[in-house]
Amino acid sequence: MDRKELIKKYIDFFEKNEHVKIENSSLIPENDPTVLFTTAGMHPLVPFLSGEKHPSGKRLVGIQRCIRTKDIEEVGDTTHHTFFEMLGNWSLGDYWKEKALEMTFEFHTKVLGIPLDRYAVSVFKGNKTTQKDEESIEIWKKLGVKKERIALLEENWWGPAGKTGPCGPDTEQFFWAPKNIPPPEKFDPENKGWIEIGNNVLMEFYKDKEGKLKKANQKNIDFGGGVERTVAALKGVEDNYQLDCWKPIIKEIEKLSGKKYEEHKKEMRIVADHIKASVFIISDGITPSNTEQGYVLRRLIRRAIRFGRKIGMERFTKDIAKQVCKIYGDYNLNTKKIEEELSKEEEKFLKTLEQGLKIFKKIIKREREISGKKAFLLFQSYGFPIEMTLELAKENSIEVNEKEYEKEYEKHKKLSKTASAGKFKSGLADNSEKTTRLHTAAHLLLAALRKTLNKDISQKGSNINSERLRFDFNFDRKLTPEEKEKIEEIINEQIKKGVKVKREEMSLAEARKRNATGSFDKKYGEKVSVYTIGDFSKEICTGPHVKNTKELGKFKIIKEESSSAGIRRIKAILE
Ligand code: ALA
Repeated sequence: MDRKELIKKYIDFFEKNEHVKIENSSLIPENDPTVLFTTAGMHPLVPFLSGEKHPSGKRLVGIQRCIRTKDIEEVGDTTHHTFFEMLGNWSLGDYWKEKALEMTFEFHTKVLGIPLDRYAVSVFKGNKTTQKDEESIEIWKKLGVKKERIALLEENWWGPAGKTGPCGPDTEQFFWAPKNIPPPEKFDPENKGWIEIGNNVLMEFYKDKEGKLKKANQKNIDFGGGVERTVAALKGVEDNYQLDCWKPIIKEIEKLSGKKYEEHKKEMRIVADHIKASVFIISDGITPSNTEQGYVLRRLIRRAIRFGRKIGMERFTKDIAKQVCKIYGDYNLNTKKIEEELSKEEEKFLKTLEQGLKIFKKIIKREREISGKKAFLLFQSYGFPIEMTLELAKENSIEVNEKEYEKEYEKHKKLSKTASAGKFKSGLADNSEKTTRLHTAAHLLLAALRKTLNKDISQKGSNINSERLRFDFNFDRKLTPEEKEKIEEIINEQIKKGVKVKREEMSLAEARKRNATGSFDKKYGEKVSVYTIGDFSKEICTGPHVKNTKELGKFKIIKEESSSAGIRRIKAILE
């Protein structure tokens, strides 16, 4: 079975069980300010897992592309990947444990045909604050899973994805993958032969701002299963890079480098993984830069270039990207744009890489530690992301003064804090009041831009955190001070008036008929939510929003700049 077949079987099965298919969302979270990338299928659904009504109903199924950046430097082994796809099915306050586990079990054992003697599960053992999940144990037993194949673990808990939000105990499913070794009677999760192929999060809690767990108003099920991992397990393949979704990439690398995979696994895996992730990040509208998602993208591309160079490749990124686009034909990736962006970044880095490596060698010959100043020099003048300097230092058994580097960085750049470690580690948004307010402000901004500049303006991207909103739109010149003032003025007028924000559900066709704006049309299912702010703004959006514009305070543009060709970017705050 390959990737496409698994996805089809999964969607078909859950559609048959009355789930509505939802679209694969962007890797760049739309409503989530504190996280850079979508890291699980449930991310785009947080408002609905928290109680908001989803336009497609209470049973959803879908495939979600995900990026996990925590382990970028770990990539190179058999299983760590930066980009992956996740199978997901959800109950938003609909079915609960019994039905969820029944369906998961049926999918695994009947649809995928996993024999019971190769199947095992883990269940939440309980801790000081939350009881053992007896219910799931009983359900698994009833389904036919033997006692010896049920492991009780304290770590069986998932979420919240960020600081606050829905969470709960989880119960995971495992498959005994080795073809030539019979499965042991007793399930030991430490035994590497058991591969986790699914996870049902039983979301009955909500973690609040103080870190306290309270019973959630709505009980949800959040199932997630890695696509590649499941395919690899079922095939008994130990090295994921042997799968259909990797092999053509590895072959291309062998061709370009003239070297064999067997002899250069680590380098080839890094190149394959990082370019694949970069392709998808670029495809979702990000370009390399020194902040936020753009910085992660830059790190990935540059690390791939450094390792590609080790096996004798140069100017290779676009050839590899071509293979990625071919494998994932179902995404209709914009191959030309992706290749252009990759090549541009590659050329940029090639100009300084050689020189930077020379400087690095000089430093380590003379010094016992790489000072923060030197690490910053490598970053600023030679384009070495700090993570690259750290990795190079490790390869040469020398330390880097990271603290001093951070200081230098702050001093010289005053870049947004989000580009530093904090945000990479953190999970999902605390959908706080501040971000909700800014979210509504973004709707007012779009309407104001259309009124002030022209009516063809649409949203080309947005990012909100609790301090500011960032909004990209199509326009081909700098805004004049008068225009900016006018925009602020008409937005503040709407705020002062105290206009009600109304939410309605309707079909996409109806929303179009009513002239609602919405730049991500193809993503929406049949029914959509439309937010109307008086006669000023009408937008298709998943929310959440404030109830009345008077909650917003004073709107102020703090920056207007170019984002890329033909795209302007506004940063604004609410005072
Ligand atoms: N959200 C759960 C996970 O990522 C299903 O494992």
